[in-house]
Amino acid sequence: MRVLSGIQPSGKLHLGNYLGMMKQCIDLQVKGEAYIFIANYHALTTVSDADKLRQDTLDVALDFISCGLDPKRTIFFRQSDVPEVQELTWLLSIVAPVGLLERAHSYKDKIAHGKEATVGLFAYPVLMAADILLYQSDIVPVGKDQKQHLEITRDLAVKFNLKFGETFKIPEPYIPEEVAVVPGTDGQKMSKSYNNTIEISGSPAETKKAIMSIVTDSTPLEDPKNPDTCTVYQLYKLLATPEQANEMATKLRAGGYGYGTAKKELLALFNEKFAGFRAKRAELAADPEGLEKVLQDGAERARVEARKTLKLARRAVGLE
Ligand code: ADP
Ligand code: TRP
Repeated sequence: MRVLSGIQPSGKLHLGNYLGMMKQCIDLQVKGEAYIFIANYHALTTVSDADKLRQDTLDVALDFISCGLDPKRTIFFRQSDVPEVQELTWLLSIVAPVGLLERAHSYKDKIAHGKEATVGLFAYPVLMAADILLYQSDIVPVGKDQKQHLEITRDLAVKFNLKFGETFKIPEPYIPEEVAVVPGTDGQKMSKSYNNTIEISGSPAETKKAIMSIVTDSTPLEDPKNPDTCTVYQLYKLLATPEQANEMATKLRAGGYGYGTAKKELLALFNEKFAGFRAKRAELAADPEGLEKVLQDGAERARVEARKTLKLARRAVGLE
C-alpha cells in the first residue's frame, strides 16, 4: 500500500494539521510505503515573500520530522525538487474540464475573499492531482477540507485512463471521522486563516496563552456541563486515552468542575504529548545541512518513481 500526502509551507503548523493530517501520515508510515512532501509550488499561489517561503519550507520539514516522520522509512521531499510533477500537471490539464475546476470550493472561497483569480490558483487542483498520481498512490491522508480535491484527482485519473489507456491508479482519500475537522480556540475549524490555532512549535508561554483563550460558554462552575459542546473537551479527547477522555467527560457532566481546570488539564496533556518534540526540533534546527541532505535524498528516491509514471503517461499520449 502506498500512502501519499503533502502540506503547504504557508505558515506555522498547528494542532489541526497535526491531528488531521500529520499524525495519520506518521502512523501509516509503518503500514505501507509513504511519500510525504512539502507543497511549495502550491504555496506560491498564496505566498509571495521568497525568504518566508524558504523559511516556512524548512519549518515544515523540522516540524514533521520532530513529530515522528522517519525520513529513512518515509520518502520525504520538497515538491519542487521533483520537477516531473510539472509535466504531469500539463498532461492532466489536457483532460481537466474548466467547469469542474470552477466548482472547487477552495478556489471559490479564495476568490470570495478577494484573491485575484490567477491561472495558478485555478489550476491548483490539477497540480495536486499530479502530486498524487505521479506516485501511483493508494491512499491520501488529509483533513476534510481536501476531500473535494481528492474527488477531482480521481475524476482526472479516470478521464485520462479512459482517453489514453490505463495509466494511473485511482487513489482513495483517508479522512478518519473524529479528526476530519479539528476545532480551533473559537470552536470553528482550526485554521491559520482564522487566528484560532494552537501551534505545535509554539513556546510554552504561547501554547498556554492559546489554550487558555479557548472560548467556553458561561455555565457557572457548579453546574453540569455538556462535553459535546465544549471545545476544551473536544480537543482533550483527541489527545487523550479513552479512559482520560471519559474521566473529563464525567467531571464536566457532574458539575463543580470548571472550564479553567479543564484547560489546565488540556495544557498538561499537550505538554506531555509534545515533550520530546521541542528538544528534537531544536536538535534538528542546529544542523541545517543535515536537514537539506534529508530532503535531497528524499527527492532522489521520489524521482525514481516519478520518472516511471511520467514515462507511462508520455507514452500513453504519444510524446514517446
Ligand atoms: P490551514 O487551514 O491552517 O490553512 P492547510 O489548509 O494548510 O491548513 O491544511 C494542511 C493539512 O491539514 C490538510 O490536509 C488539511 O486538511 C489539514 N487540516 C488543516 N486544518 C485542519 C483541521 N482543523 N482539522 C483537520 N484537518 C485539518
Ligand atoms: N492542498 C493540500 C493542502 O492545502 C496540500 C497538497 C498539495 C496535498 N498536494 C497534495 C495534499 C497532494 C495531499 C496530496 O493541504
